Amino acid sequence: MAIVVTTDLERKHRRGAHVVHALCSVDLRIEPGEFTALTGPPGSGKTTLLHLIGGLDTPSAGQVRLVGQDLAAMGRADRSRFCTEHLGFVFQAYNLIPVLSAYQNAGLTLSLQGCPAAEGGERAMRALKDVGLEGMEHRCPTELSGGQRRRVALARALAGEPALVLADEPTANLDTATGYALLDTMREFNQRQGVTFLFATHDPKVMERASRVVRLVDGRVDEDLRK
Ligand SMILES: Nc1ncnc2c1ncn2[C@@H]1O[C@H](COP(=O)(O)OP(=O)(O)OP(=O)(O)O)[C@@H](O)[C@H]1O
Ligand SMILES: [Mg+2]
Repeated sequence: MAIVVTTDLERKHRRGAHVVHALCSVDLRIEPGEFTALTGPPGSGKTTLLHLIGGLDTPSAGQVRLVGQDLAAMGRADRSRFCTEHLGFVFQAYNLIPVLSAYQNAGLTLSLQGCPAAEGGERAMRALKDVGLEGMEHRCPTELSGGQRRRVALARALAGEPALVLADEPTANLDTATGYALLDTMREFNQRQGVTFLFATHDPKVMERASRVVRLVDGRVDEDLRK
């Protein structure tokens, strides 16, 4: 079964007298095991699409099915629970909580999901180790580098064992080497554990590492290349 199917997906924003078409009739299928880069010029709709797939925004028209379920058929609370259960998020807007340690941040989604503390703790520890942060569990975000913080966010996304990780510009504001190292870690999870990823990026070097590149232009799918 496809993890995500969007059908004729549309998102309009009303800005004063005129309407901005952030997305127009997007049909996209994400199958298990993909490592897909979403690309396109600034304002082409990448973040909008990730938000709609993640249930953080609602479409003006069309449908998003996540692991077979229509997101629009659920109430707000159910949708939020469903998306947290099946998805991992690496978004700027979901940054780390500064007063919590790496360990507490990594376990946050699990505790929201009602995972028992002991099991959640174990899984958060394992996720931190998997992203290369063993020994740094008790540091707060301010005691970590930008790359390490992004790894905590990745650990948090992975700890819930999601069907799909959505990442919006995961390498933004990182130096080149740190950004590519993070991406290599994501790719390892994809290849070794079969975690599916969909991530927005501008960086051609990041696109090179993807197994599929979907390019948006003016809110439409302009190109869809599988390697
Ligand atoms: N809340 C909003 N109100 C009005 N217009 C919006 C809103 N959010 C997004 N837009 C518009 O929708 C379009 C798509 O925006 P989006 O953020 O999805 O683009 P993007 O591809 O992620 O761009 P970037 O590469 O700069 O991150 C843009 O024209 C943007 O101005
Ligand atoms: Mg964006």
